[in-house]
Amino acid sequence: MESIFVLSFYLSFYMYLLLLLTHFTSYTFSLCNHHDKFALLQFKNSLAITSSKPDIWYVCSSFSSKTESWTNNTDCCEWDGVMCNPVSGHVISLDLSCNNLKGVLHPNSTIFQLNNLQQLNLAFNDFSDSLMHAEIGNLVSLTHLNLSNTGISGNIPHTISYLSKLVSLDLSNNEYMSLKLNPFTWKKLIHNATNLRELHLEDVNMSSIRESSLLLLKNLSSSLVSLNLAFTELQGNLSSDLFSLPNLKLLDLSSSYDNKLGGQLPKSNWTSPLRYLDLSNIIFSGQIPNVFENLNKLEYLSLSGNNFSGQVPSSLFNLIQLSTLDLSNNNLVGPIPTEITKDSKLEVLYLDNNKLNGTIPHWCYSLPSMFVLSLGNNKLTGSIGEFSTYSLSYLYLSKNNIQGEFPNSIYKLQNLTVLSLSSTNLSGSVDFNQFSNFKKLYYLDLSHNSFLSVNIDSSVDSILPNLEQLYLSSCNINSFPKFLARLQNLQVLDLSNNKIQGKVPEWFHEKLLHSWNNTEIINLSFNKLQGDLPLLSSTTQIFYFLASNNNFTGQISSSLCNASSLQVLNLAHNNLKGTIPQCLGGSPSLFVLDLQMNNLSGSIPTNFSKGNSFETIKLNGNRLEGPLPHTLSHCTYLEVLDLGGNNIEGTFPNWLETLQGLQVLILRSNKLHGPITCSTTKHSFSELRILDVSNNNFSGLLPTSCIKNFQGMKNVNVTQTGLQYMGGVDYYNDSVVVIMKGFSMELTRILTTFTTIDLSNNMFEGEIPKVIGELNSLKGLNLSNNGITGTIPQSLSNLRNLEWLDMSRNHLKGEIPESLTNLNFLSVLNLSQNQLEGMIPTGKQFDTFGNDSYEGNAMLCGLPLSKSCKNDKDQQPQSNDEEESSFGWKSVAIGYGCGAVFGMLLGYNLFLTGKPRWLANFVENMFSIRLKRINNIIGANRR
Ligand SMILES: *[C@@H]1O[C@H](CO)[C@@H](O)[C@H](O)[C@H]1NC(C)=O
Ligand SMILES: *[C@@H]1O[C@H](CO)[C@@H](O)[C@H](O)[C@H]1NC(C)=O
Ligand SMILES: *[C@@H]1O[C@H](CO)[C@@H](O)[C@H](O)[C@H]1NC(C)=O
Ligand SMILES: *[C@@H]1O[C@H](CO)[C@@H](O)[C@H](O)[C@H]1NC(C)=O
Ligand SMILES: *[C@@H]1O[C@H](CO)[C@@H](O)[C@H](O)[C@H]1NC(C)=O
Repeated sequence: MESIFVLSFYLSFYMYLLLLLTHFTSYTFSLCNHHDKFALLQFKNSLAITSSKPDIWYVCSSFSSKTESWTNNTDCCEWDGVMCNPVSGHVISLDLSCNNLKGVLHPNSTIFQLNNLQQLNLAFNDFSDSLMHAEIGNLVSLTHLNLSNTGISGNIPHTISYLSKLVSLDLSNNEYMSLKLNPFTWKKLIHNATNLRELHLEDVNMSSIRESSLLLLKNLSSSLVSLNLAFTELQGNLSSDLFSLPNLKLLDLSSSYDNKLGGQLPKSNWTSPLRYLDLSNIIFSGQIPNVFENLNKLEYLSLSGNNFSGQVPSSLFNLIQLSTLDLSNNNLVGPIPTEITKDSKLEVLYLDNNKLNGTIPHWCYSLPSMFVLSLGNNKLTGSIGEFSTYSLSYLYLSKNNIQGEFPNSIYKLQNLTVLSLSSTNLSGSVDFNQFSNFKKLYYLDLSHNSFLSVNIDSSVDSILPNLEQLYLSSCNINSFPKFLARLQNLQVLDLSNNKIQGKVPEWFHEKLLHSWNNTEIINLSFNKLQGDLPLLSSTTQIFYFLASNNNFTGQISSSLCNASSLQVLNLAHNNLKGTIPQCLGGSPSLFVLDLQMNNLSGSIPTNFSKGNSFETIKLNGNRLEGPLPHTLSHCTYLEVLDLGGNNIEGTFPNWLETLQGLQVLILRSNKLHGPITCSTTKHSFSELRILDVSNNNFSGLLPTSCIKNFQGMKNVNVTQTGLQYMGGVDYYNDSVVVIMKGFSMELTRILTTFTTIDLSNNMFEGEIPKVIGELNSLKGLNLSNNGITGTIPQSLSNLRNLEWLDMSRNHLKGEIPESLTNLNFLSVLNLSQNQLEGMIPTGKQFDTFGNDSYEGNAMLCGLPLSKSCKNDKDQQPQSNDEEESSFGWKSVAIGYGCGAVFGMLLGYNLFLTGKPRWLANFVENMFSIRLKRINNIIGANRR
């Protein structure tokens, strides 16, 4: 829509020129000033003509080569794009916009000698290596200057303020932030150019200009008609004066996401001529003021990406001229107004990403001009009505609570290009045969509709011929959609979470390898696919390739390394055999490599190159052997390294301590040996939050030197940061399996507050270091089944966040410190099979533990053990609750700190093995939400 606006602006400008032209050509006696002619010819000679740029064709309705008519032996006043003063013969207007010119403007360019120029338009040419020179100030007669879309850069010279006759100045849409305007130049310009009607500075870096300088615009209040300061990084609070400039028709202050403007919209005194208002992404807050009754000329309104709360003002829908309304990405609540003016010209409506409820109003289906209807990610209910007009091109209703049958009239929307109906409660069936009308559809999303039956078996020859992105995740489909075989240009395919069986069809292998060169995402995860993985070609642009949780067998082909743009490779939970291609370690862009739970053998790739992108490497649950390659220390961005459950040999990789971002290190169940030590350098393992080296042959003292360095396990402040998950990307979350008292739990997302140490099942000796008490953010500590001696240090009672503690099967002596009862969140305690003695502390969490927490300590006494302490006269009779004595889980659920242990496991899976039924129910009821990042590509595709 914006482009149409711009276009109409240009059209009217051309009309104006045309008028001037017909006016002037009635004088036949004009003769070109020879000095100007020489200057123009020199200018022409300094430039080249390039081939046209297709990406700006939509604005430049056609490219011309006006300068071709510029020859020495003709009158320059007759040249294309040139106009002269009929009396003096001086060149007064030069319009070379959309002329495919390419060159560099030097300070000595003869264009700066045309000092009678009143209009200069060089827009949509390529001057990308040029700076804006002070010589522009020579052109003091200029009323119109347009250097937009030229790629010109540098500081806007202060001499621009010499152009005191300027009526229109357009420096917009050069490379973002590449032109710079300082407060000094801004002030001088606004002071001098008091006739400015149009000021377009979109993308100019104005970040040093403060609100006080912005207020200077009041100087222009009688003239200013069009003000575009979008994406200028302006800072400060918006003054309400801007909204009351009496002649303003266009105001665009929209911003990028990390905007720096603020303030509130004025509640009155809005300028009534306003036609175009774009205030997206500027953090307003509060409600949208109901001022629109007076703005009855408004055609375009965008307030998206702000913090608006309250309801959608119904007066907006009385605006007869309004064609685009964008209130997306706010916090709006309540219903979408059910009434709209009869003569509405509304074409584009974005209300997505709010909290709107109620039903979709009927007019959404019947407005004859409706082109974009975007209501996704709200709380809308009711059913989708039947469409009575079929002009829609873009329909986005995903992520609402809408229900009812999939409406048949959708099949009649033959101009649809985008159809997104994911995550709804729609029922009935979708028949792909009926999609034969959708010749223009390139984006189709029907994912996550558990009540909808999706019939992809099409008998029609050619359906969806232009489809580029297909999302059918969780749609209960059981075969590969055959119509894909005829698609020319598939970019995104998401077939995850279905029941697709058997081998990947031959045609799919063929297409992926030979013809789909623009494929970006392939997601086949969570199906029942067998046989070989698809191969990737060396020309592919693919960045996500996901085939996890299938039954793929065969080997991982080194052809994957051809895919140099690959960012996420997830082949986890299959039956892949053979070795990991060495070349994968050298991949330049791969940041997630997840090959866990396969049958891979051989060694870990040794060639991780310097400057690689890896953030997550998971090779756990394979049969990998040999030592850890030292080149892993080149993975400077690494956050998660999980190599558990292999046959890796050697000693503890303390050389990984240099990885400043490493948060999760899992080496569980390997054949590692020797002592664990860390250097005393300050940043050694400073971000580590999950360390699991259990089930190895580590020996020596407990790693005091490392524990001292674990800054990431100390003073994690939730209230400051809020609950956060470790970085995930679309389609991939870092997950990790933790073991809690024998239960494996997969955290499908890792909270940054989740901190554990597991050193169990090794041969550690010596005492528990007191310094462990400094890790006050620890949630879990497992030291069981080692040779640990000495007593339980008092300092453990400083671990106030501890939720489980296992020190069973060691040689611990002495009494259980009474102070451990201060651990208010402790819900699992295992001290069994030691040589502890004395009375078990009582009170608080300790009243919830069963006797299996203590058994095998011959000299312990008191509840819950049946052995009473001799001195204890107040001993109460043993209550033998069956469930309690079998295991303390139920008590956990109802006892102190209830839910705490699960609260942090939000979004996890329990493995099916041996989970108590009631626990499973508890967990499923409380946290049935299995959080999964759902793609947001629809947002990126807008406009
Ligand atoms: C253009 O014409 C002028 C005379 O009219 C002559 O002096 C000059 O050399 C010519 N220039 C070129 C480039 O032909
Ligand atoms: C203009 O300046 C540029 C760069 O300084 C130089 O290369 C060019 O020869 C000059 N042109 C003339 C006509 O002096
Ligand atoms: C204002 O414009 C006039 C005319 O071009 C010029 O002489 C004067 O220097 C300008 N003033 C400033 C402050 O730029
Ligand atoms: C919509 O939400 C508001 C609260 O924001 C609530 O008061 C109202 O009852 C809801 N309406 C419907 C139809 O659910
Ligand atoms: C579909 O688009 C074409 C071309 O823009 C237009 O002529 C036609 O009227 C549209 N169809 C409907 C039903 O609006």
